Amino acid sequence: MAQFGLPENSKILKGNYYEDKTGSDNLKKINVYRWNPDDGKNPRVDTFEVDMNDCGPKVLDILFKIKNEIDPSLTFRRSCAHGVCGSCAMNVDGVNTLSCIKSHKDINGDINIYPLPHLKVVKDLIGDLSNLYKQYSSIEPWLKTSKTKTEETEIIQSQKDRSKLDGYYECILCACCSTSCPSYWWNGDKYLGPAVLLQAYRWISDSRDEEKKKRLKKVADELKLYRCHTIMNCTNSCPKGLNPAKAIGSIKKMLATS
Ligand code: SF4
Ligand code: SF4
Ligand code: FES
Repeated sequence: MAQFGLPENSKILKGNYYEDKTGSDNLKKINVYRWNPDDGKNPRVDTFEVDMNDCGPKVLDILFKIKNEIDPSLTFRRSCAHGVCGSCAMNVDGVNTLSCIKSHKDINGDINIYPLPHLKVVKDLIGDLSNLYKQYSSIEPWLKTSKTKTEETEIIQSQKDRSKLDGYYECILCACCSTSCPSYWWNGDKYLGPAVLLQAYRWISDSRDEEKKKRLKKVADELKLYRCHTIMNCTNSCPKGLNPAKAIGSIKKMLATS
C-alpha cells in the first residue's frame, strides 16, 4: 500500500522553551509556530512562559510582550491594532481571527498561535497573501462608470441602494475566511475564495457601477465561483461578523436568474 507522509524538512519540530524570569504567579504558556526561510531548518513550535499580570488584554499584546521582552526575532504582521486593517490575522487556538481584537481571557489553558492555514509561510506568523491580492485585483475593485465626471460632480446613490452594500463594504480583506475554506485550500490557484467573491459581490451590487453584467460574466466560472460548496466555514470565521457565503449565494442566484 502506498505510504504518504510529509517531506522531512516540513515536519514541525518541538522548539525552544523560554522559562519565565519574573517569578510571576500568573503565567500562561504560549506555543508559537516559528519558521525562518534563511536558516534551512524545519519549522518548530516555541513555548514562552508569559507573565499575564503585566500584559494587555489581547493576543497581539502577548506577541508584543514576547517580541519586546523575550525573543525580538519573533515575526508577525500588524498595523492598526484596532481590527481595521486586517494585517494581524492568524490562527489562534485553531480559529482564524484578528489577534488585535481577540481577547486571551477567552482561552483556557495554553494558547497555540499559528499563521493562517494553507498559505505559504513568509516567516513565523506571516502568511503569503500574494495569490489572494492577485485574485482581488482580477475583479477590478473600483467603480466603473462611462460618464465623464468632474471633481464637482456627485454620483448620486439613494439611501436604499447604499444600504445594499451593508455587510459587504466592511470587509477588511484579512483573509480569515478564505484560509478557512476547504475549497480554497485545495484549489486556491483557481477558485477565487470567499474574501474575493464577497468583494466581487460588493461591486456587482453597487447601483452606481455600470459593469454589473460584465462583472457577473467574469466570475461565472466552474473554478472561480462554483468550487464553493456552501460548507460555511468562511462565515463562521469572519472576525467582522460578515457573511461571505451569503454573498457567494447571491452571485449564484443572480447568474441563475439573469
Ligand atoms: S469577509 Fe471577513 S474574514 Fe473574509 S476577508 Fe472580509 S473581513 Fe476578513
Ligand atoms: S461556503 Fe463556500 S466559500 Fe465558504 S467555506 Fe464553504 S466552500 Fe468555502
Ligand atoms: S492590526 Fe489591524 S486588524 Fe489587527
